[in-house]
Amino acid sequence: MNIMKSFVALTSRRSMLRGGLVGPGLMGAALLAGMPSTSLARDFRDDNELTEGDVAILRFLAALEILEADLWEQYNELGGIRDSELTSGTGIQAYTNALNSLDGDMSQYIHDNTDDEFSHASFLNAYLQSKNVPQVSLEKFRNLEGSQATGSSRKRRLTNLMQLTVDTSWWTRYRSSTLNPDLGDVFPPAVPSLATGEHTAIPRTDADLKPQSRLQAIANTAAFHFGTIEQGGSSLYPSLALRVSNVEVLRILLAIGPTETMHFQVWHDKVGNVVPMTDPVTGLTFPDLANSTDENLKANLIMPEPTIFSRKFPNTPVSIIRPTETRGAAMGAVNALTADGLFKGQSLDFFAFLQQLASEADEAQREI
Ligand SMILES: [Fe+2]
Ligand SMILES: [Fe+2]
Repeated sequence: MNIMKSFVALTSRRSMLRGGLVGPGLMGAALLAGMPSTSLARDFRDDNELTEGDVAILRFLAALEILEADLWEQYNELGGIRDSELTSGTGIQAYTNALNSLDGDMSQYIHDNTDDEFSHASFLNAYLQSKNVPQVSLEKFRNLEGSQATGSSRKRRLTNLMQLTVDTSWWTRYRSSTLNPDLGDVFPPAVPSLATGEHTAIPRTDADLKPQSRLQAIANTAAFHFGTIEQGGSSLYPSLALRVSNVEVLRILLAIGPTETMHFQVWHDKVGNVVPMTDPVTGLTFPDLANSTDENLKANLIMPEPTIFSRKFPNTPVSIIRPTETRGAAMGAVNALTADGLFKGQSLDFFAFLQQLASEADEAQREI
């Protein structure tokens, strides 16, 4: 029997804390077991001063989280779950069914991913405000017309999900045992036909609901886009954390970043259930990844394959997030999202503002 399990079986968590049984020797074990340790917990402090670089990184992340919340809200309106947490839209049953053909819980995951992004944006802005730094708002850029299908709230959007060129190279990147984007390596997409042209990930109007194979291709596009977005967040947070100075800000990045990875891993798994098919209207083709014999493509190989982290350790591959290079990470994220078509139709002012935030974040230096 696991020693912690036997300990927990004998001592309830509450009595352990009340009785002060969490001595120094047990604190590490308590943390590993996910148990609270009052001796170690420190709340955020008001007198904690941020560097200019910390502020720039937080402001950039707040902007990206607002954009994430905007795109996820569109998915939730049409294919997720509307409830007291997320009230916008009324859903499209046929689109929801097409998404849930990958996994019966897709709508729940879409809802929860959306909820998480709103919480990321809100928290980062609340934290900035607590430091007397202006909150980030993109409201003046909320001018894009989203889906006009029945079920959409039809409110104005910041992001465009209807002309996407989805980069699915993360699929092969996380399966490679010899290559690393931080060492300059490039990776082929898992779905080559998503890498060219413009594809909608949501029904644009009610006309997109038929034929069924057309609607399934739209849902499949969404499912790959989910992974593309969340793997980006999985890299962005550690990349930027490398240039944070204040340990409280570091804690924020280290606590939010892995939730992006939790999202990514779910989507990575679910999108492996896409059935090979071709969109009868656009010709968009989804290959048979489930039955692939190629280890760079096979759907169930979702755990990050150990790969080369550093040329100094060519014979010691390690399972890691990739990339985590910090130089230019913020602008790299903006460029990747732009290349995917997420901001198609946005104003020059929008791009100027976002690029300004990114370049300020990329100028941040670790000052310790
Ligand atoms: Fe997020
Ligand atoms: Fe995210």
